[in-house]
Amino acid sequence: MSTTMASSSSVTYYPPSKEIPLFHPSLIPRSVTRELPAGYTMRPIRAADYDRGVLDVLRVLTTVGDIQREEFEAQFNYWFKHNDTYFTLVIVNEFDRVVGVGSAVVERKLIHKCGNVTHIEDIAVARSEQGKKLGLHIIHALTDIGKSQGAYKVILDCSEDNVRFYEKCGFVRVGVEMSLKF
Ligand code: ACO
Repeated sequence: MSTTMASSSSVTYYPPSKEIPLFHPSLIPRSVTRELPAGYTMRPIRAADYDRGVLDVLRVLTTVGDIQREEFEAQFNYWFKHNDTYFTLVIVNEFDRVVGVGSAVVERKLIHKCGNVTHIEDIAVARSEQGKKLGLHIIHALTDIGKSQGAYKVILDCSEDNVRFYEKCGFVRVGVEMSLKF
């Protein structure tokens, strides 16, 4: 919902600040958005997506915990300050609920002539919306965003269960993931 400032000659709309997109929407390629099923929209995440169920979507992926609005907004604001590094996008349905989410994080390296690597992280599609190619579209969009930021490769970690999904997105299995949890 936007606030309307009316004058005699024109109408100017001031969107509430919590509806500001994390990054410029034009980074999401048309080649992806035009393939979305009718009624679905892909766009950069906004602080107001807290109320559209983005955390519930992430709960299909892993433990999210009890995140208060202020904590969510603080994280969003950090991303916003570094929005040449953090690119989180969402898919919303016709009822304006978030049904898919995913992130690309751009790492600026020394190797490969100060090259960039994009990490794809935290991909989730609401259980009731799986199987509609929303996950595939999220990965294609994030990959394109990664490329647009000069990345020489895009990488991700996943479980054995999801290997086939990522192969269908064009990824190939390389190396071994190691982890030390705290
Ligand atoms: N195993 C085998 N094939 C799969 C799988 C799977 N687990 N998931 C999807 N596919 C196939 C689909 O059948 C489809 O194949 P088709 O083109 O032949 O029809 C293709 O991959 C594309 O599938 P989508 O419909 O785009 O998949 P969906 O929208 O359901 O999203 C996702 C897939 C993101 C894995 C979803 O099931 C999900 O949210 N799962 C729970 C959370 C999760 O595991 N996220 C990934 C973690 S890894 C990470 O974040 C980097």
